[in-house]
Amino acid sequence: MVRALARAGKGSRMDEVWDPAADAAGWVEEAEAEIQAATDPAALAAVRTRWLGRRGRLTEALRGLGELAPAARRERGQVLNRVREAVEQALAAREAALEATARAAAYARERLDMTLPGIRPAVGQLHPLTRLRRELEDLFTRLGFSVALGPEVESEWYNFEALNMPANHPARDMQDSFFVDVPGFLLRTHTSPVQIRAMHARGGALPVKVIAPGHVYRRDDDATHSPMFTQLEGLMVDRGISLADLKGVLLTLVRALFGPGTAIRLRPSYFPFTEPSVEVDISCTVCGGSGCATCKHSGWLEILGAGMVHPLVLANGGYDPDSVSGFAFGLGLERVLLLRYGFDDLRPFYQNDLRFLQQFARGSEGQA
Ligand code: PHE
Repeated sequence: MVRALARAGKGSRMDEVWDPAADAAGWVEEAEAEIQAATDPAALAAVRTRWLGRRGRLTEALRGLGELAPAARRERGQVLNRVREAVEQALAAREAALEATARAAAYARERLDMTLPGIRPAVGQLHPLTRLRRELEDLFTRLGFSVALGPEVESEWYNFEALNMPANHPARDMQDSFFVDVPGFLLRTHTSPVQIRAMHARGGALPVKVIAPGHVYRRDDDATHSPMFTQLEGLMVDRGISLADLKGVLLTLVRALFGPGTAIRLRPSYFPFTEPSVEVDISCTVCGGSGCATCKHSGWLEILGAGMVHPLVLANGGYDPDSVSGFAFGLGLERVLLLRYGFDDLRPFYQNDLRFLQQFARGSEGQA
């Protein structure tokens, strides 16, 4: 059959050998075999060229029609057109099939398993000290205090003299200091200088009601003392402030920190800038007051220092000690963390070991 068409070249007498139906079927069969054998787009394109290209078999055959007598030309033309349609259909179908196979393979290759657990991004969190500081700022602002800040490089006057600790006064030995190259300045040893700064900032107005959180520095370094640590100062000055007001605020403070059942005890003590001065104890956070190893069987744990603002300090702040009075307290935040979490070593809080710090993820303070 193929031979029959092959003979249909230039100048041959097609009419004699042309069996349209048989030859057409043969061509279609042959083309389809080639088409099925093509397993990729390039091979398929080659088949298309071989049959339908400018020099393709069908193209040549169609071109040869012009040499035929009109009747034969019409008959053969119709057959060749049917062949071309069949070949084109077969090519298109194969093309679609190859494409579908390729797509299926790509899907399998690029498969994305949406059920795999995701990679949890490392979300940072605030340091437990920062969180404690903010917690206390929240508490005291609710009580009507505002937050006052002072410099960490402080003058000796604010840090000592104004607080009733004149030069060479033995009380200065209570706070081993870091001095800086500028004469008359040091790294502040406590947040109490902010008492004076806050009174100055109020310019004699009443009340003065501030807390002053921040870093302080002392030449101290052991398991429970760091050369840099964090204090929170409290100061309230107004007409008629008494020790009872101090006790009320402190009770609110320790109950917020250690739970509503916490009791406090004020013990007489000494600070140059308060008179009278007290050491404040809380009922033991471990045994609740019945006595245990943590509280050395006393039932009490020391938590902070406080007192009524010394008249000299009030005067240095620009207030008349005869008409106003005030209380002040100073709380060490590291100490609060140790008591809350039951640690006896504060150094890990400064060592940036995430395995340690991550234990204090948000929400864990309620379990303390
Ligand atoms: N400034 C004192 C200290 O650092 C603490 C304190 C503050 C005591 C306010 C009494 C009143 O030791």
